[in-house]
Amino acid sequence: MDTAKLILAGKEYEFPVVVGSEGEVGIDITTLRAKTGAITLDSGYGNTGSCKSSICFIDGEQGILRYRGYEIADLAEHASFVEVAHLLIYGELPNKDQLATFREKLTRHSMIHEDMKKFYEGYPPTAHPMAVLSSMAASLSTYYPPVPGEDSDQHIIRLLAKTKTIAAYAYKKSIGQPTIYPQNDLSYCANFLRMIHAVPCEEYQVNELWVKALNKLLILHADHEQNCSTSTVRIVGSSQANLYATISAGICALWGPLHGGANQSVLEMLEQIRSDGANYKKYVDMAKDKNSGFKLMGFGHRVYKNFDPRATILKKTCDEVLGQLGINDPLLDIAKKLEEVALNDSFFIERKLYPNVDFYSGIIYRAMGIPTNMFTVMFALGRLPGWIAHWKEQNEDSGSRINRPRQVYTGPTVRSFLPIEKR
Ligand code: SDX
Repeated sequence: MDTAKLILAGKEYEFPVVVGSEGEVGIDITTLRAKTGAITLDSGYGNTGSCKSSICFIDGEQGILRYRGYEIADLAEHASFVEVAHLLIYGELPNKDQLATFREKLTRHSMIHEDMKKFYEGYPPTAHPMAVLSSMAASLSTYYPPVPGEDSDQHIIRLLAKTKTIAAYAYKKSIGQPTIYPQNDLSYCANFLRMIHAVPCEEYQVNELWVKALNKLLILHADHEQNCSTSTVRIVGSSQANLYATISAGICALWGPLHGGANQSVLEMLEQIRSDGANYKKYVDMAKDKNSGFKLMGFGHRVYKNFDPRATILKKTCDEVLGQLGINDPLLDIAKKLEEVALNDSFFIERKLYPNVDFYSGIIYRAMGIPTNMFTVMFALGRLPGWIAHWKEQNEDSGSRINRPRQVYTGPTVRSFLPIEKR
């Protein structure tokens, strides 16, 4: 199967076929418009490949997710988030020396310029931390102005190291507490948890259960091929905008409730159901009624039409973490009942709607004392190495071009201008 044929207006055209390392087949239509004058239309890009990539593989039917060939379950069980970040960005799991060097760089660059802390004073305490994260990410370029053609690794390290500090500072400012500086003898996850939970007036004890759970959560969110925010990063990066601006755009795309913002919406939905007498069947029925405008948040996926392997791991992690912490969260019970009812209901079965990565993650964040409006920030911290990896892969591809899709115009045909007295 090395070509595909298209017949348009009685004429036959042939296009090359690309087959990936996992057997995925793509019809290369790069010459379609030049040959036929026509373009394709694919609302939501569900059938359109934007690029070839060697970073992440998903099989939606089999529920497979691999980062650079490693199964997500293996990475979540055995790796640290920093190791997975190295794998995604540089292509390989680091050996001991490489990991030590990478960790040292991330530690050394964890602080933000002291003057950047003044930016936070301009935000109201009610500012959503995703708005702060996106603007602070772009603002890093004002302190570390990228120079075209320079080695981008220093910016990659700075962004990875500083984004967790920016996120923690946003949280502390929102609750009126003093910001906590990073501590160099702590790991990435322990440092972040300390920066959001410690207060100057008392000793902070790292909770190793939380650290282990956060590592797993960030790994599970680290990449997911051409999802909405990663595609945004590729589109913005294709104009050769700098890394900070590109990631800032990815943060904004992730914020939407249909994407990364769903983890916050899931918790709000579970709270709504709990306050409504835990009447979860009522909400399942609402989700089936098109006119209700209600969706079961945390359910459904464009690619997974079987199960999201991350949701399976997160559901198990929920039980583990809450059990170890001795927490009995009624929202977890409601979530499990919602899943059970939905998975046995023909509406969800026919549409292949299963829990996705956002369905259980918030319950674990809650158990770690992370507030609901920070959940999507946590998603962004996890997804950051994936975004960077795709930006880097595209930047290093000499054949990459500015992303500029076409359209089929359906507006008014040509007409003459009328002076206002004649309109
Ligand atoms: C993420 O792409 C990625 O990889 C994303 C992500 C990643 O790691 O980057 O996995 C992270 O974004 C996960 C998704 C988080 N979003 C949500 O949980 C929001 C709720 N889910 C939906 O909005 C929806 O399922 C999407 C956005 C996830 C997928 O949308 P699609 O692929 O465009 O599917 P669709 O909206 O066309 O739905 C198909 C049918 C429709 O019904 P019919 O018109 O066929 O009758 O299923 C229905 C939809 O109405 N449907 C739902 C539903 N999701 C889809 N009905 C009720 N509740 C839902 N959650």
